[in-house]
Amino acid sequence: MSNKVTKAVFPVAGLGTRFLPATKSVPKEIMTLVDRPLVQYAIDEARAAGIKEFIFVTSRGKSALEDYFDNMPYLEEELRRKGKTELLETLQATNMESGAIAYIRQHKALGLGHAVWCARRLIGDEPFAVMLPDDVIAAEKPCLAQMVEAYEETGGSMVAAMEVPYDRTSAYGVLDVQEDMGSMVSVKGMVEKPAQGTAPSNLAVIGRYILSPSVLENLNTMKEGAGGEIQLTDAIAQEIGGPNNVYGYRFRGQRFDCGSKAGFLQATVAFGLAREELRDDLASFLQEIMLAQAAE
Ligand code: G1P
Repeated sequence: MSNKVTKAVFPVAGLGTRFLPATKSVPKEIMTLVDRPLVQYAIDEARAAGIKEFIFVTSRGKSALEDYFDNMPYLEEELRRKGKTELLETLQATNMESGAIAYIRQHKALGLGHAVWCARRLIGDEPFAVMLPDDVIAAEKPCLAQMVEAYEETGGSMVAAMEVPYDRTSAYGVLDVQEDMGSMVSVKGMVEKPAQGTAPSNLAVIGRYILSPSVLENLNTMKEGAGGEIQLTDAIAQEIGGPNNVYGYRFRGQRFDCGSKAGFLQATVAFGLAREELRDDLASFLQEIMLAQAAE
């Protein structure tokens, strides 16, 4: 079995109900963060980590997402003709190599574990990444690249982790820490969405994973867990105590929960401020409205 991580699964079958009515006709993953769809951030992060094959687990109503990854030769030609080189380069940076991208349908919304399991035949017997595009991470070195580097030392399975306030732990998968080694922790248990006051720690799983293929075997027989869904967290937890250890990795970077409106807006402001051409105008606008609000 090769230990190189070259495949990533992107579960994008969710209905995006939190963004209705926008998501009536636009898949959540196509919604725009500054000028790029959410999913492009995840793709770029995957590429930076050496991912070569991109597996999308989709559902009905996601065809705009598939179209997004098609090349646009006419538009490219038009931009070339008009000498708009910068735009042309931006557009070309989103082109995917033929055969590098695959779509699998999740026929029923049975949970994240089930979504990943749907991709099992395309993954085969090698370690693979899972990326949840809702979690957008701003980082100097992209989060998955940090994890791939750490994983080369550890093997096993690894989840991105971050401290959250204790009263928010019920929204996450939460780690029960065996040994805390700083940026890395070894894990002796994992609980998906623990009830208020029962979380084993406040170290939460964030949507980046590097998983051993044995997790897929665990999913073969996985029963419903939290929320009546087949949970990826449970299939990873089943690895604990076996030959493949489970690690949490405290990544360096800022995570935005773009699955929520507040998180999406925060990401829009942060990524806007990070862009040179937008920074000054946006910053002075923010200052103005903050002052106006303080004066109210
Ligand atoms: C999923 C996972 C959860 C993880 C979270 C991170 O939950 O099941 O373990 O902590 O992503 O964003 P969801 O947010 O899809 O309910």
